[in-house]
Amino acid sequence: MLRTIRATQYVTALREGGSLPAIIEADDLGLYVVKFRGAGQGPLALVAELVAGEIGRALGLNIPELVFAQVDPALGRNEPDQEIRDLLRASAGLNLALDYLPGSSMFDRAAGDKADPHTASLAVWFDAFILNVDRTARNANLLNWHSQLYFIDHGAALYFHHNWPDASRLAESPFAEIRNHILLPWATDLEQAAVHTASCLDREILTEILAQIPDQWLQSSHPTPADARSAYLNLLTRRLAASPIFTQEATRARANFI
Ligand SMILES: Nc1ncnc2c1ncn2[C@@H]1O[C@H](COP(=O)(O)OP(=O)(O)OP(=O)(O)O)[C@@H](O)[C@H]1O
Ligand SMILES: [Mg+2]
Repeated sequence: MLRTIRATQYVTALREGGSLPAIIEADDLGLYVVKFRGAGQGPLALVAELVAGEIGRALGLNIPELVFAQVDPALGRNEPDQEIRDLLRASAGLNLALDYLPGSSMFDRAAGDKADPHTASLAVWFDAFILNVDRTARNANLLNWHSQLYFIDHGAALYFHHNWPDASRLAESPFAEIRNHILLPWATDLEQAAVHTASCLDREILTEILAQIPDQWLQSSHPTPADARSAYLNLLTRRLAASPIFTQEATRARANFI
């Protein structure tokens, strides 16, 4: 179960993030990176961040702890920047936050950063499963921290939820975009990763993860939040069954690459 913290101080904006995430201090005195519900990407980006992040954790990848962040209307009232004040006002209530990893640095192939075959293969499988295009050399969304790789920024994954009538088409997608994955060169154990992930994920675990999505983040797409959750469950279960399809595609992409 995700913990809930309350933001007590707006520390700084992370300007490089397109959705204007911020570092905040919380009532437990910890620092967190908050993804705001009121950002242009909308609440579904938070749903993707939560669901994909917890799937990655279930697979054994390092994901910074995810928590719900309560934002009070008073937070940021004195921020000089109008854009930030507006964002905070639009985000009063529940948001999603990640444990802030101080001193982490972005994975950079050009700087000689490397990944071990197990982590790289697992990551490639994971990103193909969640349909994540945001793990490229240009935009790695992969942090080096204490000699380990941490996976962040899953807000654009699970993009089928922006168009449910058309979502079914993506369940069995080979996901050709995997060819641009930053860790593909090291992903030598893709078949093994697929076997491993099959033992980590099932209907029950996915149901538990989906149960944590706050109802308010699921408005509009389905008659009730429960209907929305079962649509996610149905799609993700089908995607899991399609593992041979996208694992094969990743293997092919890797063969073309080297
Ligand atoms: N948990 C964390 N610990 C330390 N730094 C972080 C953490 N999460 C994010 N960052 C930093 O903040 C930046 C923006 O975060 P993130 O990529 O999640 O935001 P975004 O708005 O989705 O970005 P994008 O522009 O890639 O869409 C990251 O590139 C990274 O430098
Ligand atoms: Mg990013």
